[in-house]
Order: sequence, then C-alpha cells, then structure tokens
Amino acid sequence: MAILVTGGAGYIGSHTVLALLERGDDVIVLDNLSNASRESLSRVEKLAGKSAVFCEGDILDRACLRDIFASHNITAVIHFAGLKAVGESTRKPLEYYENNVSGTVVLLEEMRSAGIYQFIFSSSATVYGANAPVPYVETTPIGGTTSPYGTSKLMVEQILQDYAKADCNFRAIALRYFNPVGAHESGEIGEDPNGIPNNLLPYIAQVAIGRLEKLGIFGDDYDTPDGTGVRDYIHVVDLAEGHLKALDHLTAIDGYKAFNLGAGKGYSVLEMVKAFEHASGRKVPYQISPRRDGDLAAFWADAALADQELNWRVTRGIDAMMRDTWNWQSKNPQGYK
Ligand code: NAD
Ligand code: UFG
Repeated sequence: MAILVTGGAGYIGSHTVLALLERGDDVIVLDNLSNASRESLSRVEKLAGKSAVFCEGDILDRACLRDIFASHNITAVIHFAGLKAVGESTRKPLEYYENNVSGTVVLLEEMRSAGIYQFIFSSSATVYGANAPVPYVETTPIGGTTSPYGTSKLMVEQILQDYAKADCNFRAIALRYFNPVGAHESGEIGEDPNGIPNNLLPYIAQVAIGRLEKLGIFGDDYDTPDGTGVRDYIHVVDLAEGHLKALDHLTAIDGYKAFNLGAGKGYSVLEMVKAFEHASGRKVPYQISPRRDGDLAAFWADAALADQELNWRVTRGIDAMMRDTWNWQSKNPQGYK
C-alpha cells in the first residue's frame, strides 16, 4: 500500500514525504519540477534512509497518471501540485485555473477509474476571502476571494464537496494552511523560491545572507498594534505532520471536511524581522514601502477543530521557525543549486 504525493518535490511536499517515509509509508511522488528540483527528494531520501518512487510528470497527463495507478498499489493521494503565486495568478489566470482546477479534476477522474477514493488537498486560508472576521473558523462561509489563485482553491473545495456528496466511496479533507515557514531542523531541505521571493520569510532570509539588499515592508499604517500586517505563521514540519493526521482521519469523516492548519496566533511583519535577527544574529535592513495590492491587515486561525478531531496542534513556535529558516538558508545560500 502506498501514498501518491503530487508536488512532492516542492516545499511543503518534500517535508511531508519525509514524514511519511519516516513513519514507514511507501511513497510515490509525481512532480513536473516546474517549481522544484530533484535534489530536494534526494535529500529527503538520505534523511529518511529510505527511497520514494519518483515520477517526473504532470497531473494533467492522463497517460502518466494511469501508468502510476496501474504500477503501484496506491490507497490515497495527497495533492500539493499546483501554482501558488498570488500576484502571478492575476496576470496568468488561465494557467492557474488549468493547473489548479483542471489538473485536480483530471487527477480525481483518474483516481476514480483506478478505484482510489482517499484524498488530501492543499487548500489555503485565502478561501476565507477579504471580509471574514478573525480568527477564521471553518464554519465561517468561504468566498469573496481576491485572486485567481484563491478562487482556484475555493473551486477545488467546492468540487471535492460535490463529488463526496455524489459518491459515498469518496473521502476528502481540505487543509487550509495559514502561512507556512521554516525548514526541516537538519537544514537539508527548505523553501527555495525561484527568482525574487514573494513571501516574507524567504525574503528576510535572503537579505540576511546577502542575496538581497533590504526588505520592503508593505505598509506600516494598517489597523494592527504596530501598523504592519499580521499573519499566522506555521512551521512547515508541524504542517507536514498535520497531513499524516489528516490521512489517518479520512475513514472517520463523512465524505468531505475542511480543517484550518495554523498556530492560532498572529505575528506582525516587524515582530518577524526582530525574531529573525535574534535567531540569526544578522541585521535585516528594511524600509517601509507602499501597501501591496490585495494584502489584508491581519488574519489568523481558530485552530481548535484540528486539535479536537485530528489530535493535531503546532509544537514549534516562532524561535524554531526562525532558527530553522536561518539554518537552511545559511547552509544553502543558493538553495538547492
Ligand atoms: P511548491 O511550488 O514548492 O510545490 C508545488 C509543487 O508542485 C512543485 O514541486 C511543482 O514543481 C509541482 N507542480 C506544479 N504544477 C504541477 C503539475 N501540473 N503537475 C505536477 N507537478 C506540479 O509550493 P508549496 O509551498 O510546497 O505549496 C504546496 C501546495 O500548498 C500548493 O498547492 C499551494 O497552493 C498550497 N499552499 C501553499 C501555501 C504557501 O504559502 N506555501 C499556503 C497555502 C497553500
Ligand atoms: N510582506 C512584506 N514584505 C515582503 C513580503 C511580505 O512586508 O517582501 C508582508 C505582507 O504584506 C504580509 C506578510 O508579510 O503582511 C506576509 O506576506 P506573505 O507574502 O509571506 O504571505 P501572505 O499572507 O500574503 O500569503 C501567504 C501565501 C498564500 C496564502 C496565504 C494564506 O503566499 O498562498 O499566505 O494562507 F494564500
């Protein structure tokens, strides 16, 4: 029995593959390497002392999926593969809907043909849209998304819900991630964005290592304690462990269920900069820049449902997030290259 992990060479996928291998699961990774390198999996395998089967291919490629499902005894799929840059999605909406929505439908159809009905989906806090009250609770209506990326996650959640209603064999959990940061404590695997990072922590880390000159803080006039944006940062290893709990919980749910995976606590951009400086001993020069289009002032998770039902909660705080980010960045100044 094996687990198929799509997008398993990427940031969150590689940490999850490691956790699966470490607990003894057999893993097949399908990744088109559009935003990852094979090196991440080589390092995962070294850390785990065990190999995963790697298939370089695309979730939109039916022949490739059929071949994988015919060759391995797969019982469940964890689906990370997709495009994830919010800004880029506003410029390339069709690419985002094709990859994230059509790709998921193709994957689900081929799973059905192969008789595979267990599914974990990488969703996002962005599905709560611009007007939800904080903290975000799973019972809050979702919608009002502000980018094609966010809408693609919303659409897939709806598809999963409809499919689960129509076919009682199918079970899916959507995990709504808040802001994943950090790296495996070994410093061997971590986040390796292409080009200039969009997200805060990789940007800070690249300033600290000298690849970038200074951080732009997008606005200091929000209605937050220090005026900068507040987010719920979650250590990627805690997040990876959440997938294992969700996988084990699939048989206990009634069709479809969504869970927030967050820490339940917010930190501001300035607090993140200070915590990083403390952990790394490096100065992070910054300047206050204009607000970034589409950014919200503050949001964080109500993480109680995952605690109660999945028996999952974060165990790594801001110090571990910063220590492990810096350990990864300083050991790998150019990422996997
Ligand atoms: P990532 O880009 O590191 O990983 C995604 C992986 O999918 C990459 O390895 C990429 O090569 C692969 N991929 C993309 N399109 C593919 C396709 N059509 N076929 C096969 N492989 C494909 O991103 P990540 O941060 O690890 O995110 C994983 C998932 O979690 C994504 O679905 C993302 O939208 C979601 N998510 C991420 C965040 C975040 O802040 N990182 C937050 C919420 C949700
Ligand atoms: N920020 C800066 N400067 C930067 C980058 C970010 O000040 O160079 C600020 C942002 O304005 C925001 C905070 O840092 O206040 C976090 O920004 P990120 O870009 O790291 O994260 P977002 O909250 O914008 O978005 C992330 C993922 C999305 C996901 C969302 C919710 O990128 O995919 O979390 O899960 F949808």
